[in-house]
Amino acid sequence: MSPIKNVIQVGAAGNLGPAVLNALKANPDFNVTALSRKDSKNPPSGVNVVTADYSSHEDLVSALKGQDAVVSTVGATGLNDQIKLIDAAIEAGVKYFIPSEFGGDISNEKTRTLAVFRGKVAVREYLEKKSSEGKINYIIINNGPFFDWGLKVGFLGFNTAEKKATLYDGGSVPFSTTTLASTGKSVAVALSKPDVFKNRVLYIHSAVTTQRSLLGYFEKHTGVKWTIEEKSTADVEKETNAKLAQGDFSTIWKLIYRSLWGEGYGGKFENVNNEELGIKVLSEEEIEELVKGTL
Ligand SMILES: NC(=O)c1ccc[n+]([C@@H]2O[C@H](COP(=O)([O-])OP(=O)(O)OC[C@H]3O[C@@H](n4cnc5c(N)ncnc54)[C@H](OP(=O)(O)O)[C@@H]3O)[C@@H](O)[C@H]2O)c1
Repeated sequence: MSPIKNVIQVGAAGNLGPAVLNALKANPDFNVTALSRKDSKNPPSGVNVVTADYSSHEDLVSALKGQDAVVSTVGATGLNDQIKLIDAAIEAGVKYFIPSEFGGDISNEKTRTLAVFRGKVAVREYLEKKSSEGKINYIIINNGPFFDWGLKVGFLGFNTAEKKATLYDGGSVPFSTTTLASTGKSVAVALSKPDVFKNRVLYIHSAVTTQRSLLGYFEKHTGVKWTIEEKSTADVEKETNAKLAQGDFSTIWKLIYRSLWGEGYGGKFENVNNEELGIKVLSEEEIEELVKGTL
């Protein structure tokens, strides 16, 4: 049985939150609570929710008291708040912290320099420091882009309504991608064996695929050739950085494409921990079904 009993998830609604919450709740060993901002417009449901004023250290410490682990699935604008959460977790005596990474490989020297990852790099460095001082343990999950979510919302370059695809760097660059459910499962499994997984960066994927391979399935199941636009991730990076220099952050998320498909950015994970975490790799037939299911 896991030494972890009480788990609190921060930011449990949203895109990723429910998948992690469901996986945590599915383990009867865990007593799961969600922490939400006092002024949240969309607090999670189906779980005991506590709220706190994140600008108050005392409020956060009292919300985290008695918890064994904090799982953060806060969205982009909340990433910096995690430093306060880590400090509060340490004071509250929490032993494990899973930060809101859940994406590209920021251990990769090229990826970690992309502006979009600045917040995550700062949080990771802070956790590494606190863990080396023996104050808290971390577990980090890197899963690449969410596969089902990315296909559905167009993040992976496919516009199903208009049957248009944007292919990056030729569209044949293999990349690692993971479903929301498997990402959630990895969190719950890692917390079920904290002694095995503590202070490690874990890599998972549901598939290694390419945009062209996915496009093939989209064309097969829509029965038509799609309109293709080709882009280079180096150009995307240049354009985005030019906007950032003008104070325009509206397309900063596009830098993730550089980390996915740019050469040397580690978009395809070479060593994954799927087996240890019980994460399934999808067959080509299952990948095709996933694509078909988004139409
Ligand atoms: N790999 C991928 O393809 C991919 C895609 C999307 C996201 N992600 C990553 O997954 C993680 C979660 O992202 P998401 O899109 O699921 O998040 P999200 O839906 O934008 O937000 C999740 C929750 O975070 C809390 N939150 C939002 N803004 C906050 C703030 N300023 N301060 C504190 N808390 C705040 C909110 O909870 P309350 O209202 O309850 O406080 C919200 O429901 C992030 O690390 C993100 O980068 C990865």
